[in-house]
Amino acid sequence: MANQNVWDNHYVRSRAQQLYPDENVVRLLKKEFAAVAAKSCALDLGAGSGRHLPLLQEHFEHVYACDFSRTSLSLYSEEKLHKAQAKLPELPYADNSFDFILCWGVLHYLAQEEIAVAIAEIRRVLKPNGSIFLTLRSDKDTHLKSQLSAGDLREGHARLFSKEEALTLFEGVSQIKYGFILRQILDEELVVAHHVLWVKR
Ligand SMILES: C[S@@+](CC[C@H](N)C(=O)[O-])C[C@H]1O[C@@H](n2cnc3c(N)ncnc32)[C@H](O)[C@@H]1O
Repeated sequence: MANQNVWDNHYVRSRAQQLYPDENVVRLLKKEFAAVAAKSCALDLGAGSGRHLPLLQEHFEHVYACDFSRTSLSLYSEEKLHKAQAKLPELPYADNSFDFILCWGVLHYLAQEEIAVAIAEIRRVLKPNGSIFLTLRSDKDTHLKSQLSAGDLREGHARLFSKEEALTLFEGVSQIKYGFILRQILDEELVVAHHVLWVKR
């Protein structure tokens, strides 16, 4: 099954419809984008159920959301928001459009050959002083495999990255900061592990 159908089916389930932002995103925005600058623009790339959109609207004047899943796009209203169906690695935005792009939990679901193309596309639509905050699933993760074989994302595909591979994808950027998220599922042995990158164009 193509990944797009997998995600469309995923967002039909009510438990997939998350309401609350990741605390790492809350912290970064509070630290780096405390005051809303006039005409500032942010994009939630692969916005899913839209859980980060109210938070982005607190920090940026214009907020855009895109995803390739139509089900996900139907989950939140268009009020004060620009929303688009878009399938990475292509993006339907002009060069130098965004001050900030959030790409949380998305890039590792692309086909291997699409990932570098998608990153070049993300850098194209960032303003020269813009930044991207993203996660890439780590090779320390043991949970995703079970989701892809028998769980919520059955028949989808994803790739796990070593820290070196994750950093290599962003060679040539002006600045990069690295973090790591590790969470053990309650009452299970499986762990969810993500590289976290804050990258300036
Ligand atoms: C794990 S969810 C993360 C959603 C959201 N960023 C969050 O943190 O809740 C991954 C999202 O990426 C989207 N996605 C996966 N591959 C994509 C692609 N090639 N183009 C656009 N969106 C994609 C899926 O539809 C899904 O909404």
